[in-house]
Amino acid sequence: MNEHANRVKAPPLKIQGIKTKLVSFILNHVKWDGRGRWVEPFLGSGVVVLNVNPERALLADANEHIIHFYRAIQTGEMNPYDLRCFLAREGQVLKEKGQAHYYDLRERFNAHHSPFDFLFLNRACFNGMMRFNAQGKFNVPFCRKPERFAQAYITKICNQVAWAGERIEGKDWHFAVRDWRDTLRQIEDSDFVYLDPPYNDRHADYYNRWGDRDADGLAREVKKLKARFAYSTWKQNKYRTNEHLTTHFSDYPTATKAHFYHVGAKESLRNAMEEALVMSPKTVLRTLESVPSA
Ligand SMILES: C[S@@+](CC[C@H](N)C(=O)[O-])C[C@H]1O[C@@H](n2cnc3c(N)ncnc32)[C@H](O)[C@@H]1O
Repeated sequence: MNEHANRVKAPPLKIQGIKTKLVSFILNHVKWDGRGRWVEPFLGSGVVVLNVNPERALLADANEHIIHFYRAIQTGEMNPYDLRCFLAREGQVLKEKGQAHYYDLRERFNAHHSPFDFLFLNRACFNGMMRFNAQGKFNVPFCRKPERFAQAYITKICNQVAWAGERIEGKDWHFAVRDWRDTLRQIEDSDFVYLDPPYNDRHADYYNRWGDRDADGLAREVKKLKARFAYSTWKQNKYRTNEHLTTHFSDYPTATKAHFYHVGAKESLRNAMEEALVMSPKTVLRTLESVPSA
């Protein structure tokens, strides 16, 4: 699929487990004729579909804020011009009032759910985390950089929104707030399904409650799919091996790649992980030159 993504670009949203640095690895192993839909039941930041750039897509996530954000780009409500004004204004208040403004804005977002506030928090919170408490309220602390929204940073974010808008415009992409089970029920044989669920032992929060039962249930449904699929999970880190992978997918073609997940600011907090991509038996492996990473 490399012809679809000569250069990987980063999306406007950040999320733990974001695949920006793994997009080329994933796409190097995907063979799809592009005739059906590109389906992602766990959309997250959207980085994979934005780089694939298909004509038709079904893009779902249980997190309504992610879906509302991309719908706002699709309708034009979220656009680089309005976003630049918004970030310049709120960034200036942040500079003057410091963290109190971040926390005011967090309260405002938790009351009204504006996609602009969502993006502001996503880009001003600690470490680009997306985490919600048991009541579904965004609860990530401030990154402690009151001067966060310098002009160059605003431009970078606006360019990312502009790029996402260009990719979505004129395409048949459907964004849906949906549990993965409902998404998988709507798969047609000609679709290609890319699955990237939360890791089964990490990142538990309101939108990411993911235990062994979820992982087992997903594996059973994925194996019933008639459509081609690629399923991202982890293989091992220095402490553990993912038994889920051996239990369910030992007979499936699986590619692996060493990867560092940046879960902290310090080098010592960066977790080395062997990433796995399980593919449907019909997903023929191709060895192509890597797409340059973002
Ligand atoms: C690992 S992230 C996906 C990352 C994405 N591929 C990227 O590169 O940014 C997992 C996503 O699954 C979503 N999710 C968690 N539980 C879900 C469920 N039951 N149904 C659908 N989506 C779910 C989370 O909201 C999160 O966005």
